[in-house]
Amino acid sequence: MGERPRLVLGLESSCDETAASVVEGARLVWSSVVATQAELHAEYGGVVPEIASRAHAERITPVVRAALDRAGVTLAEIDAVAVGHRPGLIGSLLVGVAAAKALAWALPGRDGGEGHLPLVGVDHVHAHLWAAALADGDGDDPGEIAYPAIGLVVSGGHTSTYRLDGPLTLSRLGRTIDDAVGEAYDKAATILGLEYPGGPNLDTLAVTGNECAHDFPVSRLGAGSLDFSFSGLKTAVLYAVRGTPRPKHEGGGYPRDLHEVSDRERADVAASFQRAASRAVVLKLERALAHLHEGGVRPRSLVAGGGVTANSRLRVELAALAERADLELRIPKMRYCVDNAAMIAGLGGAMLASGVRDDLTLTPVPTTAC
Ligand code: KG4
Ligand code: ZN
Repeated sequence: MGERPRLVLGLESSCDETAASVVEGARLVWSSVVATQAELHAEYGGVVPEIASRAHAERITPVVRAALDRAGVTLAEIDAVAVGHRPGLIGSLLVGVAAAKALAWALPGRDGGEGHLPLVGVDHVHAHLWAAALADGDGDDPGEIAYPAIGLVVSGGHTSTYRLDGPLTLSRLGRTIDDAVGEAYDKAATILGLEYPGGPNLDTLAVTGNECAHDFPVSRLGAGSLDFSFSGLKTAVLYAVRGTPRPKHEGGGYPRDLHEVSDRERADVAASFQRAASRAVVLKLERALAHLHEGGVRPRSLVAGGGVTANSRLRVELAALAERADLELRIPKMRYCVDNAAMIAGLGGAMLASGVRDDLTLTPVPTTAC
């Protein structure tokens, strides 16, 4: 007994990716399957909640089956079920939570008793901060995260900094007061006429642009504020592309249509936007770090997570900051930057190991705990 690896099945359905994963312990990924719905939402330029929850309901069973197949295991070999139960779109979360509860209830516990499999609800945002600890078994194990750490989540729904004292011990330092940075990327991409989801496309376009072409605003908020704001940047991009709106007595509207904007100009706007967005993130990280130092906390690592950590410009900025501040930079492998269930199964595994578990009354919650 005790020799067999403990396998956690993780489910993720908080937004527009249906995902399942099998993780050994808390870090070793046996399989990670992600079915993206991007093509279903592209025509609307954003996630349509009703379409998302219906697609999750259709896909969750095949995705779980694929995760088990790729891991080479059956449900009988799974020891626990973890599910992202907050934050997210309520209809989407419901699908994952209902599936996880059904699986946990239907499968007998490993103790030989009458019980069912342990179940644990995982905070999706906190799971993004665990993604950098995941190993694939490909010989490239990033190792344990050194705590205390300063955490950064940059995604389509969240932009926050954290103090991390362990995988389960964290407190938020700052957060966005309006748009998330990924949302700003997606909106700027829409203004530039790029396909949804725009963040990665804007990243590609920016490579060919001059990032000093526009001096876009980097929001600071109050002198000591640790919070973020991206709505002003988005508006600045709109005006740079379409011109400043005309007053009503001159007919209103924008002076230029998108088709009048050259490829060169679009690339310059993309690059300048990316520079301003990355600077805003790094500026607030520096403030959060100074805040921790003032409180006598000296972080050893900078742990980043969320879809925007896939951004090439931000990755360079984060590497430079980590170097300046003598922090070990922990950015997830590309496949674990965006939404996935391996981070859910992994953090779920860490929670279970420290005795945290939920019962079948687990319910989805639209907001993060902190
Ligand atoms: O973490 P994630 O998959 O979902 C949420 O929890 O929101 O993040 C998705 C966000 C989207 O806004 C997407 O445009 C952005 O991450 N994103 C990027 C890049 N790849 C994904 N933004 C900028 N550059 C990228 N390379
Ligand atoms: Zn996410």
